[in-house]
Amino acid sequence: MTETVLLEEELSYTVDALGSPKVWRTGHDAGELVPSQCVYGYVWTCLGEASGEVFAIPEFSEPDRRNMNAATIGVNVSAPRAIENFLDMGHFPYVHTDILGVEPHTEVKEYDVEISIENDEILATRCRFFQPMASQASGGGADVEYIYRVPHPFCSVLYKSSPVDDKRMDVIAVFLQPVDQEHIRAHMMLSVLDEDNDDKSIRLFQQTIFGQDKPILENQFPKRLPLDPRAETPIRADKSAITYRRWLSRKGITYGVIPAAA
Ligand SMILES: [Fe+2]
Repeated sequence: MTETVLLEEELSYTVDALGSPKVWRTGHDAGELVPSQCVYGYVWTCLGEASGEVFAIPEFSEPDRRNMNAATIGVNVSAPRAIENFLDMGHFPYVHTDILGVEPHTEVKEYDVEISIENDEILATRCRFFQPMASQASGGGADVEYIYRVPHPFCSVLYKSSPVDDKRMDVIAVFLQPVDQEHIRAHMMLSVLDEDNDDKSIRLFQQTIFGQDKPILENQFPKRLPLDPRAETPIRADKSAITYRRWLSRKGITYGVIPAAA
């Protein structure tokens, strides 16, 4: 049995040999289960009424992919702040210097972002950035293409050009477990094409990146994400961040945010 905290609720859970989870409120009868599912190697639960399936990541079931949890890291920040940082390409040359970016390649080129009504998710496409070392499998600097999905207020799925197959993309997803409004456990899931590197070095690459983001995230003030469009004026209007904030407002999300005044 494992204990954890989700949305300030103490939960206990088990996963049996067949991968079936059981989740209940700690201290309550283990017969009173809350809804749960094992998806992408993680236990997902819902403290209210489960209203649908976990969003699809079709690549996860492709047989030649390496799927793994790269890391689970506690971060002293709200989930929406962490999602917004994940969507931001502008910090690559400054925070992930010589890995995901390098000066003078600092320009965030024009990209497209939309709210997909059909899937109720944010989709940012045509994102391109010069990266000295895009992944553990890359052989040198390259212009890398990104697609971002935000299919859940606290989850994002990033697709980036595969260094080993120019027709397919690696998948890096962050599934944020809000412990409370200003603390998360960030689960980082990888579904990558890589036949050369072992799991440990693939994980280590992502852990290095996340280790660079963590202090930046923890220094954000306020820790909750302000949704009022006038609260923070970015120097360079960041389309995906603005769209994300608007989408959270429209969905009525109040957890981990400072809602816009009515
Ligand atoms: Fe980052």
